[in-house]
Amino acid sequence: MRLLITAGPTREHIDPVRFLSNCSTGKMGFAIAEAALAAGHEVELVAGPVALTPPASAHYTPVISARDMLAAVMEYLPTVDAVIMTAAVADWRPAEVAQDKLKKHTMEPVIKLVPNPDILSEIKKVKTNQFIVGFAAETRNALEYAKDKLERKGLDMIVANDVSQPGAGFAVDTNIVSFVTQQGIEHFPLMSKREVGAKIISYIESKLS
Ligand code: C5P
Repeated sequence: MRLLITAGPTREHIDPVRFLSNCSTGKMGFAIAEAALAAGHEVELVAGPVALTPPASAHYTPVISARDMLAAVMEYLPTVDAVIMTAAVADWRPAEVAQDKLKKHTMEPVIKLVPNPDILSEIKKVKTNQFIVGFAAETRNALEYAKDKLERKGLDMIVANDVSQPGAGFAVDTNIVSFVTQQGIEHFPLMSKREVGAKIISYIESKLS
């Protein structure tokens, strides 16, 4: 299979030195990329700014903003069998990006935001038969939100995790996930992100074989 995996945060600039972003480190997406490569698949890895070294055998596209990530995803989408969107895409970006560094004494204390494109919703509009996996990181009611998201974003699977649980979510090497599909929900215990990656890859293999 050829897989498109997105990872990390996006960075939405306010001026050349300031930005809005989130806590994603890219660990989950990179772990899935490693699991996919170990299983003999080809990987397009598209990641926002992260401090990780991409696996040598992945084709790597570093991006900054949500709109950069959307462009890269749209470029690779027709060439892949499945998409795994682990990236924590910023929902909003500043309406304007200053060309020069803003000065504290002249800067407005309010930043006007505009919504970013929802990459999964854009994929839904143009996809053919790719298997699409979304992530749902929530701090409460993770499963309830995941079921809603599965339908709203037209996904084949949501990997839901409650990022408020110890050992789950951002910046750690483990995660506690549930797979939500039209067929039901499968819960998993605490696992390394690499093991979560292997489970996701074998699930997709079973559906696409
Ligand atoms: O609705 P929510 O943002 O929580 O959904 C998370 C899922 O949607 C993740 O798979 C994330 O990569 C994706 N997403 C996206 N475009 C956005 C925001 C999130 O594709 N602008």
